[in-house]
Amino acid sequence: MPNVSPLYHVLSSLLALFALFQPRNPNSPPCISGWIPWLGAAFQFGKAPLEFIEQARVKYGPIFTVFALGNRFTFVTEEEGIEAFFTSKDTDFEQAVQQTVQRTTSVPAEIFYRNHSRLYSMMKGKMGTSSLYLFAGTLCQELHEHMDCLGTAGTENLCDLIRSVMYPATVNILFGKGVCPTNKGDIKEFEEHFQKYDEGFEYGSQMPEYFMSLANLLEVSYPGNLAAFPWKTTLLQHLLDDLHGKHLAPNYALLLLWASQANAIPVAFWTLAFILSHPSVYKNIMADIGSVFGKAGKENIEISEDDLKKLLLIKWCTLEAIRLRSPGAITKKVVNPIKIQAFTIPAGDMLMLSPYWVHRNPKYFPDPETFRPDRWKEANLEKNAFLDGFVAFGGGKHQCPGRWLAIMEVHMLVVLFLYKYEFILLDPVPKESLLHLVGTQQPVGACRVQYKLRQ
Ligand code: HEM
Repeated sequence: MPNVSPLYHVLSSLLALFALFQPRNPNSPPCISGWIPWLGAAFQFGKAPLEFIEQARVKYGPIFTVFALGNRFTFVTEEEGIEAFFTSKDTDFEQAVQQTVQRTTSVPAEIFYRNHSRLYSMMKGKMGTSSLYLFAGTLCQELHEHMDCLGTAGTENLCDLIRSVMYPATVNILFGKGVCPTNKGDIKEFEEHFQKYDEGFEYGSQMPEYFMSLANLLEVSYPGNLAAFPWKTTLLQHLLDDLHGKHLAPNYALLLLWASQANAIPVAFWTLAFILSHPSVYKNIMADIGSVFGKAGKENIEISEDDLKKLLLIKWCTLEAIRLRSPGAITKKVVNPIKIQAFTIPAGDMLMLSPYWVHRNPKYFPDPETFRPDRWKEANLEKNAFLDGFVAFGGGKHQCPGRWLAIMEVHMLVVLFLYKYEFILLDPVPKESLLHLVGTQQPVGACRVQYKLRQ
């Protein structure tokens, strides 16, 4: 907790009281404010945010406000609200995330605002569908290399198994080899710090000392003559080239590292876990892999983007896993009052949308709780369009710039794993954490697998 004076607390409590006892605008959405000034409904909300959101929707209707920690969070859960969330000019993404970015990576507001839209456009281009071929070959090579470290057989927690391959492979393609620690000894320590940081991210955990080692690495790796480095054109390099405030390079590198790992690794876990726990899907996938690469396990296969296009069922499984375990909430700041249905949402509110719950609306996804990869048959994936109502990557102007790369990473990882190894799930697939609001739902508890190299 940063040093905050008692006067600040008194003032903010008074302001919150003032806000609480203001005559309510009759056009405001119903507000759940609890009875404790400033804290509001924070306690009930914080205990199990996802359940809280759904119960509030049932009780108060499709638009409601939660007052907590001196802030108003207004949730929209149906069409008109979702449309406004993604398209209204009266909301702002940068203002919604700036404070979290400052707390978690120590990037000051002024530098954040100066950099954001330029860096976003750069990333959108570098990770867009027409650039994916640049990553495909190296990604496949990296995945092979790190899978080879698993040996011929073993028993392991599936999430750890995936992380031990996916983390080094993806940081090497985005940052360049040698920038982040990826040898076996260092990985463990790095992962422990990263996991703690990720778990605390939604509570605004501060940038840990440990990550300043990334700063040292960057200083060593990026001296004046950048052209001398073979990985000059990595995404990290582009980011550093475009950055205003070069002294904040390690902070931005950490932000990119977090964004690139925090969702993609759990999604890979859920995709494989769902496939292994649905025998008929598993069987059809193995038949598909056989038809593209021949008998599984024989060769050190190279996977191209074209091969992936032929393995559509695995892509559907990836998207279906993302649908079922997507982020609990995304947010925008309301900068001018917005009218949605009969309500006016005042400027200053945080507008909230829960991909997790939108994906459980049977209007968009019939039989929503069931893992049904074939529902993705209806999506025009050739034209890079998702299904209506699929909002795991956000939408509109600020959609996740890494979404196509993330899907390709998971797709390729699953193809290679299943081609090379036989798996047996030893534990049932865990239920997701009901406490997780930011980012992909994390598995709770271990889910062990036995794996064996195919002969
Ligand atoms: C399945 C995996 C992933 C999911 C579910 C996911 C989801 C999201 C979501 C929901 C947002 C916020 C959008 C909004 O609020 O409107 C976001 C932003 C972002 N994502 Fe992803 N993401 C994934 C993978 C990745 C990967 C692999 C990368 C990079 C290599 C990445 C980079 C980013 C960045 C840089 C932003 C911030 C964009 C901005 O500042 O405007 N993401 N992602």
